[in-house]
Amino acid sequence: MMMNLLGIVGSPRKMGNCELMVKAISAAVPGSAKLRMVRLVEKDIRPCKACYRCLAGDCPHQDDYAGVLRAIMEADAVVVAAPAYFRGTHSSLQRFLDRCLQAYRHVDALYGKPAVAVATAGVEDGEGSALTGVENFIRQLGLSLKGRAVVRATFPGDAILSSEGRNTALRLAAALVSPDEYAPEGVSCPECKGTYFEFRGRTAVYCLSCGGTGSFSVKDGNVDLLIGPPAHSWRRKEDMASHGKWLIGQREEFLRQRNRLKDAVKPYLGGEFL
Ligand SMILES: Cc1cc2nc3c(=O)[nH]c(=O)nc-3n(C[C@H](O)[C@H](O)[C@H](O)COP(=O)(O)O)c2cc1C
Repeated sequence: MMMNLLGIVGSPRKMGNCELMVKAISAAVPGSAKLRMVRLVEKDIRPCKACYRCLAGDCPHQDDYAGVLRAIMEADAVVVAAPAYFRGTHSSLQRFLDRCLQAYRHVDALYGKPAVAVATAGVEDGEGSALTGVENFIRQLGLSLKGRAVVRATFPGDAILSSEGRNTALRLAAALVSPDEYAPEGVSCPECKGTYFEFRGRTAVYCLSCGGTGSFSVKDGNVDLLIGPPAHSWRRKEDMASHGKWLIGQREEFLRQRNRLKDAVKPYLGGEFL
């Protein structure tokens, strides 16, 4: 059966490396795929106002957000590609993700949908946290990360000129349809298979992907991670749904505490903003 594939392009460049990787992955999907794409920078996605209204009702912004979220929900699988900008991920991804408190009302339509992550980077070792950001976009929406890659590409077109880019497209296309669980190479978080960590002190380690903490040991040159679940998790489907409900409770709690908080901040009222 034909797969409905959504490509999310987090680059302003038309026919740039992200767009090309999305198209190359789609062309390589075993069977066949019908590709639709979203170029996030062309969409009117306004910044989240942090009003929390969307948890139970409608978002006050009337813009393109809902249409993009609907496209993600309707797709069978998703490819997300964004370039490294200043060793981070292009901001269009985070700007969209910032609006995603409203996605907690759509866990059933989002959770477990296969997705792959691509970060393009023009400089050798220049990707920084770019791929982390693309993976985080996928994970926070509850999609199932099936594969990921950094593609080295400087000029628009480099991604498909290089055999690395073409092979990556083949690998990620196969991963999208594979029934196998995502299994990153090397050391990964036993809780979530994330591969990004912060060392805390000399012995503790924190997983940036799921928030789990624990310790690590090195034996015969191999790192072993002992990481348990975080204090508050929204990684599994049931956690994600209950996190949405918890946030609604937090909004009610804020309303109960509002007067006390208002008094506390009074001495800080005003200030000069440019
Ligand atoms: C403003 C800006 C910042 C960039 N910062 C980085 C960087 O920190 N590291 C890097 O490797 N490449 C960096 N690049 C290069 C792009 O990541 C690279 O050219 C990529 O292939 C662009 O993908 P695209 O063609 O889909 O836009 C930067 C490019 C721009 C325009």
